[in-house]
Amino acid sequence: MEILDGKKVSNEIKQEIAVQVAKMREKGEKVPHLAAILVGSDGASLTYVGSKVRSCEKVGFESTLVKMPSTTSELELLNKIEELNKNEDIDGFIVQLPLPPQIDTQKVLLAVDPDKDVDGFHPMNFGKMALDMSTFIPATPFGILELLERYNVDTKGKHTVVIGRSHIVGRPMSILMGRKGWPGNSTVTLTHSHTKNITQIISQADIVISALGVPKFLKAEMIKDDAVIIDVGITRVADDSYEKGYYITGDVDFENVSKKASFITPVPGGVGPMTIAMLLKNTLLARDRHRNRK
Ligand code: GUN
Repeated sequence: MEILDGKKVSNEIKQEIAVQVAKMREKGEKVPHLAAILVGSDGASLTYVGSKVRSCEKVGFESTLVKMPSTTSELELLNKIEELNKNEDIDGFIVQLPLPPQIDTQKVLLAVDPDKDVDGFHPMNFGKMALDMSTFIPATPFGILELLERYNVDTKGKHTVVIGRSHIVGRPMSILMGRKGWPGNSTVTLTHSHTKNITQIISQADIVISALGVPKFLKAEMIKDDAVIIDVGITRVADDSYEKGYYITGDVDFENVSKKASFITPVPGGVGPMTIAMLLKNTLLARDRHRNRK
């Protein structure tokens, strides 16, 4: 069994990006600038956005965090997005999800300039991704592809089972694993809450990508020998014996599943850090596109 070490790979990617940014500075060029909008004060979202901003600083990017109260109206958020769309200094930005209930997420995603949409959530970018056109690939699926590639994991002709059909992970992942090329060329089954015989389907999987959010859902007896296991779940489980009052766990019973798998991502330290590294990569791409348009 080999660990797909997202922490190590993401640090390598950040190092590669930092070198590129240092060269830009040397040449007196503008460095990439990422902005993030956070509406409300959801604990997990605050943590994620905080990590994104810190990672920008680590690689030498400019970053801007726009914090808006949970009572923000849809119009106020749309106005802020328009401001960032027009701001020539900002190469890319994200609106952290989920949004409060008074705001229509679809309207918000449509309002982001597709050229600055480093999350790849705008329907134009999502459509381009589905049609194999060059675009921003959502950071978590992009990070999973990068891990598979850097560890030379064979995906051609394999049966990939994706658990969960979220717009952020499961849906794009199912498209990407079935695309021509590598990593891809898989036969994909996208499972969700209405899937019948899910355990039977998982038992036939060469590659399982779980984005469910149910702690320790995937047990050793459910998988095939030597399956590749990608755990996208990040759940906070309340536990007073931890300093923070909770611990983080994935969808996979790592201790037992790891004994049977050929490759596996840990939680934490697997897919999570890769997401941030790929967001930085997308921002670098946005900066290059932005410069080429001028
Ligand atoms: N919420 C959970 N994951 C993500 C992500 O990748 N991007 C944004 N914007 N919000 C998220």
